[in-house]
Amino acid sequence: MKAIALFGLALSLAAGQPDHAARVRQLLRTMTLEEKVGQMTQVTLEAVLQSPSATGVRELDPARLEDALVKHHVGSILNVGPEGALTVDQWHGILTQIQDAALKRTRARIPVIYGIDAIHGATYTRGATLFPQAIAMAATWNPALVKRGGEITAAEVRASGIAWNFNPVLDIGRQPLWPRFWETLGEDTWLASALGRSYIEGLQGQAIGAPDKVAACLKHYVGYSYPLNGKDRTPAWITERALREWFLPTFEAGVAAGAPTVMVNSGEIDGIPGHANKHLLTEVLKGEMKFKGFVVSDWEDIKRLHTRDRVARTPKEAVVMAVNAGVDMSMVPFDFSFYDLLLQAVKEGLVSRARIDDAVQRILKVKLDLGLFEKPYPDPAMKARFGRPEYAEANLRASREAITLLKNERAALPLPKGSKLLVAGPTANLRSVLNGGWSLTWQGDAEELYPKDKPTVLEALKATYGEANVAYVPGATFDQVLDVNAAMEAAKGVDAIVLCLGEKTYCETPGNIDDLSLDPAQVHLAMALAKAGKPLILVLLEGRPRTLNPIVGSAAGIVLGYLPGLEGGRAIADVLSGAVNPSGRLPFTYPRFPNAITPYDHKPLEVFDVNTFNPQWPFGFGLSYTTFAYSDLSVDRSILGRKDRLSVSVKVTNSGRREGMETVQLYVQDEYGQVSRPVRMLKGFQKVVLAPGESKVVHFTLGARDLSFIGRANTRIVEPGTYKLWVGDLKGAFELK
Ligand code: BGC
Ligand code: BGC
Repeated sequence: MKAIALFGLALSLAAGQPDHAARVRQLLRTMTLEEKVGQMTQVTLEAVLQSPSATGVRELDPARLEDALVKHHVGSILNVGPEGALTVDQWHGILTQIQDAALKRTRARIPVIYGIDAIHGATYTRGATLFPQAIAMAATWNPALVKRGGEITAAEVRASGIAWNFNPVLDIGRQPLWPRFWETLGEDTWLASALGRSYIEGLQGQAIGAPDKVAACLKHYVGYSYPLNGKDRTPAWITERALREWFLPTFEAGVAAGAPTVMVNSGEIDGIPGHANKHLLTEVLKGEMKFKGFVVSDWEDIKRLHTRDRVARTPKEAVVMAVNAGVDMSMVPFDFSFYDLLLQAVKEGLVSRARIDDAVQRILKVKLDLGLFEKPYPDPAMKARFGRPEYAEANLRASREAITLLKNERAALPLPKGSKLLVAGPTANLRSVLNGGWSLTWQGDAEELYPKDKPTVLEALKATYGEANVAYVPGATFDQVLDVNAAMEAAKGVDAIVLCLGEKTYCETPGNIDDLSLDPAQVHLAMALAKAGKPLILVLLEGRPRTLNPIVGSAAGIVLGYLPGLEGGRAIADVLSGAVNPSGRLPFTYPRFPNAITPYDHKPLEVFDVNTFNPQWPFGFGLSYTTFAYSDLSVDRSILGRKDRLSVSVKVTNSGRREGMETVQLYVQDEYGQVSRPVRMLKGFQKVVLAPGESKVVHFTLGARDLSFIGRANTRIVEPGTYKLWVGDLKGAFELK
């Protein structure tokens, strides 16, 4: 018997991840109900900090820490204080004190799992590598860069002593008004699934217990990103079929990639708040998807079932509803009400002990897998893995590959060295606009906290073209016209105008807008400068596609920077000067008008009769300083059986005069279906580097599963029929049997 058990252990150890089932069972046997409910409770750091002091520096409050960890057995803490990012050493101090309290002062000695929103790098650690935000990473269409971003983020988060990252956001960005649009990997399920998978691979590696890896948290499960009115945390109406077709597959991909935690949608779908949706949390996520990790609530959202949504008559009913729906941990986050109410509810038989054990075993397993029991304290050796020069290099590369050239009339760009420039606009000289929310502070607007050695667009242009050649007149703030006349005057002596427009930084609900159009003050400035008789180059720094149709025609060049991160200023200057050949491609459809929001994979009905699809720029679009030609599309079979793989290949040639990167995109259309099918769907992509004159053959394969869809019965089906396909301007077809 013993030999067999040992053999089993050896087997699972060999597979990379030790089997912690026995340890979890043993812990559960010895834990009190109070200890279990405490494991399910998460509070924010502020709840255990001293009150704000005159010096601004805040230490942990030993009495509050004792209250949380010892008296209430709290199992998890999150976030940073409102003052923002801490140094690595400060984090080490905080995490050490927290684990000391958990391990030395409690009976159960279970380490705390600390969670942080490291959504584009270790956002809350001073000096961290802040990558382009997700929407910009998606614009690279480069899974290797996304994976590298995950690796560096994991190393820097662990170097800060933290093992759990509330990322990736796997919501699909199909509603550009939504202020969290930029946290997504764009509008397409296929692209977002592929990049989400790469990110998780980078973040978690083979085993999350490795000293430089962290646990991912897929969020926000599910449908949060598609509010009907475009405002944050407002109702969505998404049918079961649409959920399964567009919104669930990224989460399926994330679960399959091994993400051990999931965060719940803060909003509601079809009248059912995410936190009360037993069908989606328990039946679909834990049942169908076989998710074995734990589900954490979003900020205060269990309480809100009572206070906001009023589907629960009392705070206790809210707790009962959420836990019975399948939420395993509550981000309370300021008090112990969840703990008190859940204890009562269990004693009254409103929540079963089995449900508590299930939640707790899920949490303990993640803590064990992370190695927190063996190594609960921050690892001083990991400090050397923080902020390395090669991380900045990788970041710069990601930024450069994200920048998307949308217009380049008569080769206005690149602007040759030695050019005299006027730089204007509200986004020209700020670091916050390059980074967006979740950067050093929640809103990312603490300009003074950003490292001074990372240039703004203006500073980078001065470094590239020489101080003397770059004049700067803002001309407007984000929403107010300023010195337009001075800008016009300054334009007289220059060769080109670089006008930096876009959005001020925001995060979550404070970023709600009523109009997708670019602010009128900025449009006014652009219209005025267009009359200066100099090539007008627009640089857009924005988290969502603010419509700018009235000024597109007047611009000679348009460069979309999204939120390109700390290296974004430099990357933009590199693209403007031609040091870098732009290769970003839109991961969403850029609308022409604020009320013409139609994604690329729309239905035939949306282009039928007088309906038109006429975006400003299509999904997948982006120009280069070279040109590419497609030829020799070949589809290796005309009939595809259910078990076959179809091979598609195409030759791509750099037909221009400088090296460039092309993203080859494969689209298919299912001609007929039992439910209406999109006009086209992305089913493969590959980014290739080509020297001038060079050709490469790019291969894709497709199987029946790739052509499956959600049928009338809301299940995934494969239907026989004819499929069209496109790569570049070439077309093909095949039959699925
Ligand atoms: C956000 C989450 C975030 C959490 C913790 C919530 O308000 O919706 O994305 O992970 O706060 O900061
Ligand atoms: C926190 C965020 C959180 C937000 C929710 C902020 O104070 O820092 O993490 O997402 O509140 O409203």
